[in-house]
Amino acid sequence: MQHLTTLCVYLVMVLSPGVTHTITEDIQVLVFLPQNNSFLFSQARVAPAIRYAQRRLQADGGQFSGFRFNLHFESCDCVNAALFALVDRSCGLKPDLILGPVCEYEAAAVVRLASHWHVPVISAGALATGFGNKNAEYSQLTRIAPSYVKMAETFTAMFEHFAWRSALLVFEDDKQERNCYFTLEGVYHLMVDYNIRSYQFSEDEPLNTDDILQNISDME
Ligand SMILES: *[C@@H]1O[C@H](CO)[C@@H](O)[C@H](O)[C@H]1NC(C)=O
Ligand SMILES: *[C@@H]1O[C@H](CO)[C@@H](O)[C@H](O)[C@H]1NC(C)=O
Repeated sequence: MQHLTTLCVYLVMVLSPGVTHTITEDIQVLVFLPQNNSFLFSQARVAPAIRYAQRRLQADGGQFSGFRFNLHFESCDCVNAALFALVDRSCGLKPDLILGPVCEYEAAAVVRLASHWHVPVISAGALATGFGNKNAEYSQLTRIAPSYVKMAETFTAMFEHFAWRSALLVFEDDKQERNCYFTLEGVYHLMVDYNIRSYQFSEDEPLNTDDILQNISDME
């Protein structure tokens, strides 16, 4: 059925080139998603949405229905798998578009390389503050979810509204994916004018509530 649609597009273009402006082009899309279903954004969960978008774009008969998005799925693991897969593949054939990766460190490496090649990257992650720099190394990144700085703007509005001046940021730092660290980094980054202190704990050094209470009372 998809082949038929493509054929129709071709026929329309050949028969009446002046009437439709359908652009026909093959676009190689590299999608980085983990196989591991413990991630919210695993391949099994996200791939159907990407395939749906691919079908809808082709079926709508509009200006872009001639784009043939050829999807190539690569598994990644939030460490380096996405970068290595990108380099391995691209020595032969660079993708035209990259979807993902989601995890911060993995996205940083891939987006740097992709920006160097001028290959666009669309990610539902890469929410850390540093990715907001569109001048150089992250110039090709488009984020489709609100970044952590957006969340920090909400906090700032709350602080202004209630005339709060100080906060203690308590977070777990797993020293690997560091999602909590990056989340609160956005707050820290945006709220420099406030009295902000942080308290981190990890699996090795668990949360010490007495210590936290002491820190809070010190601040007051
Ligand atoms: C999937 O990820 C979880 C959490 O990171 C990990 O504990 C588990 O071992 C992983 N499973 C596989 C098959 O890699
Ligand atoms: C909490 O406060 C205590 C006492 O002031 C201090 O020694 C400690 O470093 C503080 N912890 C953090 C994570 O700021």
